[in-house]
Amino acid sequence: MAVLVLGGAGYIGSHTVYELLNQEYDVVVADNLQTGHQGAVHKDARFYQGDVRDTEFLDQLFQKESIEGVIHFAASSLVGESMTNPIKYYNNNLYGTMVLLNMMIRHGINKIVFSSSAAVYGEPNSLPIREEDPKEPLNTYGETKLAMENMMKWTSKAHDLQYVALRYFNACGAHSSGYIGEDHSPESHLIPIILQVPNNKRDKISIFGTDYDTKDGTCIRDYVHVTDLAQAHILALQYLIHGGKSDSFNLGNGVGFSVAEIVEHARKVTGYDIPVEKEHRRAGDPAVLIASKTKAETILGWKPAYGDIDTIIASAWKWHKAHPNGFKEV
Ligand code: NAD
Ligand code: UFG
Repeated sequence: MAVLVLGGAGYIGSHTVYELLNQEYDVVVADNLQTGHQGAVHKDARFYQGDVRDTEFLDQLFQKESIEGVIHFAASSLVGESMTNPIKYYNNNLYGTMVLLNMMIRHGINKIVFSSSAAVYGEPNSLPIREEDPKEPLNTYGETKLAMENMMKWTSKAHDLQYVALRYFNACGAHSSGYIGEDHSPESHLIPIILQVPNNKRDKISIFGTDYDTKDGTCIRDYVHVTDLAQAHILALQYLIHGGKSDSFNLGNGVGFSVAEIVEHARKVTGYDIPVEKEHRRAGDPAVLIASKTKAETILGWKPAYGDIDTIIASAWKWHKAHPNGFKEV
């Protein structure tokens, strides 16, 4: 029986495929390559190019392959774009999940692990954020992730289907093999943007907001290594295989770093001066997001191995330095 990874050509999906193969799973990848890269797909995975919203495509895939469980990363995930083009997010994230669940039910596939986000919480009332805290998304992207969770919840009550929603905080870093890493275009995430400076791709970075109510005025986030995220997906799948009930889990290290601190660590790791300019706040940014990881540790047995921020940045730097143009040169 194989594991189907939807969105397995993307950043977090491709790392999960590598870890699944390391642990000797049989892996099938489906991706429409809208933001993913064929070069990111491990050669030992069976790759199908297609869209999760395409009923016919999924029907044929489920007939051809014997799938035990699905790990679903395929989504649109730019917060800013979700505010200017909300319909795109409802279409890809919600309609895509709807088609997928329908086809899973039709084919009797009853286990799914999928990407949710810290964006479901909005501005937290208390820290660290626990899974049962209020969910008040500040943007369409977070709203569609919350709606995906709710679609799973009601569907699992009506059908033989169990799910795990994994709410990632800030995914970062790259695989230790050096073969895969983060390649988004446009890039919006802080660490790869910072690393464009030592890679001669930009002169300086902008710090969005220096007047937040934090120790140095810049936003605080919980940075979690992509390989630790990958391991959590495998643990979640095992949890479902062993009869675990549907649930949602935070994935973060439980430690916050400010934007200014991340820049400082990147200077230390790369040995380059990284000039910064102060910019206005970016719309929709909560001041502080830090996860409580207790639930994932206790129930899934998750133990992040790459929690040290310098290790995380060094792994990203290794990839970006060796692949200044991302997967294009593969
Ligand atoms: P990504 O864009 O690198 O990967 C998504 C993959 O899904 C891409 O390969 C893309 O081509 C594919 N895809 C998108 N829509 C598809 C469709 N309709 N049919 C088939 N394939 C499709 O993104 P990522 O950073 O790896 O994020 C993966 C998931 O994790 C997303 O669901 C995202 O919302 C979520 N997430 C990411 C972060 C983060 O910090 N990167 C944080 C929280 C949640
Ligand atoms: N930032 C800058 N300058 C930049 C880029 C980012 O100052 O050039 C700041 C942002 O304002 C924010 C922090 O760096 O304060 C981190 O920003 P990212 O864009 O890297 O990440 P976000 O925290 O905005 O969002 C990420 C994922 C979302 C997810 C969220 C949950 O992209 O999918 O984490 O925490 F929902």
